Amino acid sequence: MPADLTSSPQWKALAEHFAEIRNVHLRELFAEDPQRGETFTASAAGLFLDYSKNRITSKTMPLLIDLARAAGLEERIEAMFTGQKINVTEDRAVLHTALRAPQGASVVVDGENVIPDVHAVLDKMAAFCQQVRSGQWKGHRGKPIRNVVNIGIGGSDLGPVMAYEALRHFSQRELSFRFVSNVDATDFAEATEGLDPDETLFIVASKTFTTIETMTNAGTARQWLLRAVDGDTAAIAKHFVALSTNAEKVSEFGIDTANMFEFWDWVGGRYSMDSAIGLSTMLAIGPDRFREMLDGFHEMDQHFRTADWDQNLPVLMALLTVWYANFFEVETTAVLPYEQYLKRFPAYLQQLTMESNGKYVTVDGQEVDYATGLIYWGEPGTNGQHSFYQLIHQGTRLIPCDFIAFARSLNPIGDHQDILIANVLAQSEALAFGKTADEVRAEGTAEALVPHRVFQGNRPSNTLFGEQLSPAMLGKLVALYEHSVFVQSVIWQIDAFDQWGVELGKVLAKNIIPELQADQPLQHDSSTNSLIRYYRQRRQAGG
Ligand code: F6P
Repeated sequence: MPADLTSSPQWKALAEHFAEIRNVHLRELFAEDPQRGETFTASAAGLFLDYSKNRITSKTMPLLIDLARAAGLEERIEAMFTGQKINVTEDRAVLHTALRAPQGASVVVDGENVIPDVHAVLDKMAAFCQQVRSGQWKGHRGKPIRNVVNIGIGGSDLGPVMAYEALRHFSQRELSFRFVSNVDATDFAEATEGLDPDETLFIVASKTFTTIETMTNAGTARQWLLRAVDGDTAAIAKHFVALSTNAEKVSEFGIDTANMFEFWDWVGGRYSMDSAIGLSTMLAIGPDRFREMLDGFHEMDQHFRTADWDQNLPVLMALLTVWYANFFEVETTAVLPYEQYLKRFPAYLQQLTMESNGKYVTVDGQEVDYATGLIYWGEPGTNGQHSFYQLIHQGTRLIPCDFIAFARSLNPIGDHQDILIANVLAQSEALAFGKTADEVRAEGTAEALVPHRVFQGNRPSNTLFGEQLSPAMLGKLVALYEHSVFVQSVIWQIDAFDQWGVELGKVLAKNIIPELQADQPLQHDSSTNSLIRYYRQRRQAGG
């Protein structure tokens, strides 16, 4: 691994190449090479990536691959898959790939093969899901479960919500699913509005079982249930289950560890939707479809581990991200699924990408002198077209886009799908090629309006196409982004698996809580002090 990334020969070669092509337009690149739309593509695991509308030439990817090789990517990939402790600041292995490995595989951590435990938990989840889905699992007063409320935040919420929405088509419609994450009581109040406690199952999802939002919401849920059953704590066993790594805290909270579904410290929160944290997903779609999702993840894992890098989807996407972040100095990237079921995918990706790669020091604590993680955001198409796309087309910033689309709709009605797909294709075409002043004039546009109607183009995008969204397809898509994030982190030499940046705010909030609740001397800065006083004076109505 180069001690100093930006002074490595590979980086310098890229900087020289960038100087050559920074002003070259995609129009020229396409005109020069009529095969470009076929050459700059790759397919794997039922996903087709067209990356031809990126600002690259035939030299770019080989140079980026050289950089990745010099950064030790090959060894890092093997280190991850084989359970080495690559999360160095927490001294942990990073083994989300073991969660979807088939029975019979072997991944050894601290001298023990973890795969049998992974499958034992999956079996326990499947047995529980079958009971709930069939109505065999009865609530405290004998009613079957009709409502599932997942309480969790961050990785213990975003993955489950995203997957539920993404796979709603495959879900058991008689069960309703709600998700509570925010400590704002409104979230709990609205999620439980109208629910019958006798028919409601709470899933308390927390890796640590100490997260204040989740513990507060779980406590409120317990009271909500106990109020309905005249305080009979025996009801908890029928209406609460826990997903956690922390058995001690789970039983301290009052949930029998028989009703706990375990995972392990080598599963990062934002990489946990395919662990026990996916219980709500399995309840929704059933164990067989959950297995299909895991198989989809695994297929992409295998592709990532074995495919040549010039055909490797996660590697290609990661290298393009590095190219834009570090050479074009791009700050954000938009993820634009043309699939309504993926409406929460951008929100899910925000944690995956930004909690992983929002780091300013290298693995060994040196401050970096290059940009790291990009800002991810997005909304489903075509909605975004009528809101923020204006800025992507004609604004002053360069925003590479990932378009995601599927050939077949899960709800084929009329010609909706053709219109949807025509739009996604039109957007990447418009972004890349734009419209020149001459073209605008040729349409008879008044001269004063010409500049307003010019599209400069040369705005890059990837298009990811699949046949149809399915549990397996979702697994492939998530694994693709997980591995892309990892490859970026290897090049940037940062630890993609810790998240120290969330700690300070948590500690400060803990200090402030008692100061809001009782009049006591304040020793913050003058701004924080005065905001606390403002709140104290108004926290009680009429106060
Ligand atoms: O706030 C950061 C974080 O630690 C995330 O990484 C994690 O997904 C989330 O909090 C929730 O943590 P837990 O599952 O332990 O409640």
